[in-house]
Amino acid sequence: MTRPLRFLVSAGPTHEPIDAVRYIANRSSGTLGMALAEEILRRGHQLTLVLGPTHLTPPASAVVEHVETAAEMLAALQRHFTSADVLIMAAAVADVKPRQQFTGKLKKDELGLQLLLEKNPDILCELGRIRSHQVVVGFALESLGGDAALAEAARKARDHGCDLVVLNGAKSMGGDGAEGVSFVRPDGTHAALGDLLKSALAQRLVEWCEREGRKSS
Ligand code: CTP
Repeated sequence: MTRPLRFLVSAGPTHEPIDAVRYIANRSSGTLGMALAEEILRRGHQLTLVLGPTHLTPPASAVVEHVETAAEMLAALQRHFTSADVLIMAAAVADVKPRQQFTGKLKKDELGLQLLLEKNPDILCELGRIRSHQVVVGFALESLGGDAALAEAARKARDHGCDLVVLNGAKSMGGDGAEGVSFVRPDGTHAALGDLLKSALAQRLVEWCEREGRKSS
C-alpha cells in the first residue's frame, strides 16, 4: 500500500431552488462519486465526501457533508481543501441558478416572466486561489467526439487549474458505465481508457492520484 492520502471528493448534482417546489438540476446520480469513495477507502486512504442530492448511500467510514446548491458545495470544499492532499471534483455542478429564490410556489404563468438566471461560481477556479500542494482532478463531460473533445478537455484542465481532467462522453451521466474516457493533461497529452464501468474508472483514477500524490509530497 502507498502512504495514505487525504482525499476530498465532490460528487452528485447540485440543486438550485427556483421556489418552494422547483429547482434547476442535471441528470447526475452520484454513481462515480460512490465508486471513488469505495475505492479510496478500500485502499486505506482518508476521505471527505461533499455530496449533492442523491438517493445513493455513501460508505459508512467516509466523512460526508451533504449539500444542496453550488454555493453550499463551494463553502464545504473551501473548509476542507487546505487539509487535503487530493481533490477530485466529480460533482456535476449546475452551471446556473435563479437570480432570485421565490417563497411559496410560483404560478406557471409567472415562471417565464420571473425566472432570470445567473452563473454559479466556478468552484475549481475559486479553490485554485487557495491551492498549495494539492493534486487537483476535474472532469469534462463532452458530447463532441474525437480530437475536438480532447482539445476541450485540455482547455478545461488549463482554465480550471487541474493536473488532470477526466474526459467522458455525455452518455456517461447517470448510468453505471462511462463512455469514451480519456485522462487528459493540461498540455494536451492523454491516455485513452475507452468505455468502462465507473468502478473500473474509479480504480484507475485513484491509482493515478496515488502516483501523483507521491510526487507532490
Ligand atoms: N465545475 C466547477 N464549478 C462549476 C462548474 C463546473 O468547479 N460551477 C467543475 C466540474 O466539477 C468539473 C469541471 O469543472 O470537474 C468541468 O465542468 P464542466 O461543466 O464540464 O465545464 P465548464 O467549464 O462549465 O464548461 P461547459 O461550458 O462545457 O459547461
